[in-house]
Amino acid sequence: MKNEELIVILDFYGQYNQLIARRVRECNVYSEILPYDTPLEKIKSMNPKGIIFTGGPASVYEKDSPMCDPKIFELNIPILGICYGMQLMSKIMGGNVKRGLKREYGETEVHLATSSPLFSSLPNNNICLMSHTDLVDVLPNGFEIIASTDNCPIAGMQNVDKRFYGIQFHPEVNNTVHGTDIIRNFLYNVCKCSGNWEMSSFVQESVKDLKEKIGNKKVLCALSGGVDSSVAAVLLHKAIGKNLTCIFVDHGLLRKNEADEVETIFRNQFDINLIRVNSQERFLNRLAGITEPEEKRKIIGEEFIRVFEEEAKKIGKVNYLVQGTIYPDVIESGHGKAAVIKSHHNVGGLPDYVDFDEIIEPLRDLFKDEVRKTGLELGIPEKLVYRQPFPGPGLAIRIIGDITKEKLDILKEADYIFREEIANAKLDRTFNQYFAVLTNLKSVGVMGDGRTYDYTVALRCVTTTDFMTATWSKIPYELLEKVSSRIVNEVNHVNRVVYDITSKPPATIEWE
Ligand code: XMP
Repeated sequence: MKNEELIVILDFYGQYNQLIARRVRECNVYSEILPYDTPLEKIKSMNPKGIIFTGGPASVYEKDSPMCDPKIFELNIPILGICYGMQLMSKIMGGNVKRGLKREYGETEVHLATSSPLFSSLPNNNICLMSHTDLVDVLPNGFEIIASTDNCPIAGMQNVDKRFYGIQFHPEVNNTVHGTDIIRNFLYNVCKCSGNWEMSSFVQESVKDLKEKIGNKKVLCALSGGVDSSVAAVLLHKAIGKNLTCIFVDHGLLRKNEADEVETIFRNQFDINLIRVNSQERFLNRLAGITEPEEKRKIIGEEFIRVFEEEAKKIGKVNYLVQGTIYPDVIESGHGKAAVIKSHHNVGGLPDYVDFDEIIEPLRDLFKDEVRKTGLELGIPEKLVYRQPFPGPGLAIRIIGDITKEKLDILKEADYIFREEIANAKLDRTFNQYFAVLTNLKSVGVMGDGRTYDYTVALRCVTTTDFMTATWSKIPYELLEKVSSRIVNEVNHVNRVVYDITSKPPATIEWE
């Protein structure tokens, strides 16, 4: 992606590299991450306004540790080294790095020289995230100390004339107070960026790049109706128009009206080549009698691929398959060591079954809020752009026990009422995920003069940033009362409504 004002981020395998890119973009400057051993000529040809070295797990004094071309320091371009990046800068410039007496990890008070352009308008003492064992113990010639902690006398260094800066802590993480200000200071005070980059530039540049890359070839997209695949599809459509075909497998497990809304937006508003496959019955048949949550996921995942494959075969060979992978998916599926609590069928899978040459992931570097901004920029309705997360297996994992058409209809209605009331109370952007669950429990009630024996609906609403942990939301009682009374009055076969007051952990957000 070409941009007039570019920051190159040299990647030394640090865990926060994408976050650095994100922070730079938040400061309205475009950034690109490149491998640490990118040839100097390439960097030079990109004409960056500044270069950032990321952190990394290696030690600079070890043999074979990642090393950039030392001549990078002769390009007359400002450089900011973070953690390993600072140590590397020190080593190359003639300072010394050694193993510290103990590992320093966590939020640490750092004393800052606020006369440094890097720290201007910051307080003298700032809480920063430290995560290192090695440290710079001898400054390179021409450098001076600009930050220190009790354990790390050289926690920051600068050579103002050459515009080289190093910091041992991580400005890119939220735990570092004023971290973004430090990055902004580097961009504006040191690199003299003007900050003309916006999400609209991302759209323009992506469209241009996609056009160049794809030309007149054919692209296929599996549209789920979720934010990510929708934004990816519209972006591609803007670039290549009718050469994009979207397949929307309607498994009947979406929320009330959702499948029709997806169709209206993509077909009518954007005039995208859309194939909607109505396969509700097929899914219901496959799921009949299945009660085990992982079994449901497996069946839905498999069936989804099968339907998609059948449709794709009708189209024949395509050159590219688009996926709405976003950056958090890349991190989450990369770890692979955590215990599997629930398998998420929408990560991985698909590609093996379709005849295509290459995958395109136009949103791979974006975080969720950036994807939403891109969506708005592309003219996708707010309702879709701010849609709460919805699991791939859909309502199947919100019906405890076996799934029938009748149960699905009950759940759709109850869930719709809950969402409608949350929206009426203008709380739809306050709570992060909220839905109804059809429990497998029937209980006795009384309606009019008669006895009822009907289902219990549970309402779930959580507040969270990362969905890894979550707290149950403190919904106003009046609102709960209204939702409860509407559900029992308007939805047949429900005579009791309960509210789930369990956080995650120990519960999970979904019931299955
Ligand atoms: P849990 O229930 O694990 O959910 O606390 C965390 C987040 O993941 C979503 N979720 C899924 N998403 N396929 C998905 O695409 C799945 O099988 C699945 N299970 C849970 C859930 O909605 C919540 O946002």
